[in-house]
Amino acid sequence: MKKIPDHIAVIMDGNGRWARQRGMPRIEGHRRGAASLKEAVKTCAEIGVKYLTVYAFSTENWNRPDAEVSFLMTLFSQTIDREVEELNKNNVRLNFLGQLDRFSPDLQKKMKASMEKLAKNTGLTLNVMVNYGGRAELVDAVKKIVARGVEAKGLREEDISENLYTAGMPDPDLLVRTASEMRVSNFLLWQIAYAEIYVTDVLWPDFRREAMLDAIEAYGKRERKFGKTSEQLNDT
Ligand code: FPP
Repeated sequence: MKKIPDHIAVIMDGNGRWARQRGMPRIEGHRRGAASLKEAVKTCAEIGVKYLTVYAFSTENWNRPDAEVSFLMTLFSQTIDREVEELNKNNVRLNFLGQLDRFSPDLQKKMKASMEKLAKNTGLTLNVMVNYGGRAELVDAVKKIVARGVEAKGLREEDISENLYTAGMPDPDLLVRTASEMRVSNFLLWQIAYAEIYVTDVLWPDFRREAMLDAIEAYGKRERKFGKTSEQLNDT
């Protein structure tokens, strides 16, 4: 494959629809979605993607039925228990990013311990965005900047980037959204400024290795212009 993106961001959508189509409860879609995530991590690590950032739980997802929210919390916790060893073997670094303080103390502890355990790894970085909202992230960044006393006159774009949860990481090259929706849904609002967007009708629980390779293949055919003309790009 010719062009591999350094950073892929994914809006994992369609778990509920996948389950409904099969007459199953929504939680089965999430369970199967966790298996897709595992496969996505494996595929990306194998082909040399450096960062994979997935939207696992938005600030709005607390409004779902209590039983579904509670199932997702258990799924996050079980997945950490089951997968940390293998992630470690595969040299994956793990970050849970978002406003973590809204989670139970136990889950927070588990998230932090897993991040610490994998912090020294040097392969793929997996960012799992939880209780995450792009606007909330920007507000948090501005709070940090104001607290540091940065003067309005000297404010640069880097000041924002360096205070996001993704500080120090390159912006996503490719944003994948499954299950057909043509929306950004408050995900990585600042970071996706120049990302190529790929929407597929494949539902997240069915988004396996081949589907990821298709997305990367489609990305490879895009011409990224960053505001320049095609002629200017051809000259370089
Ligand atoms: C969107 O599908 C999915 C979610 C809100 C949850 C994402 C969670 C996982 C993929 C589980 C695995 C994650 C980890 C970190 C273990 P939806 O429920 O909005 O689907 P719908 O739009 O078809 O109803």
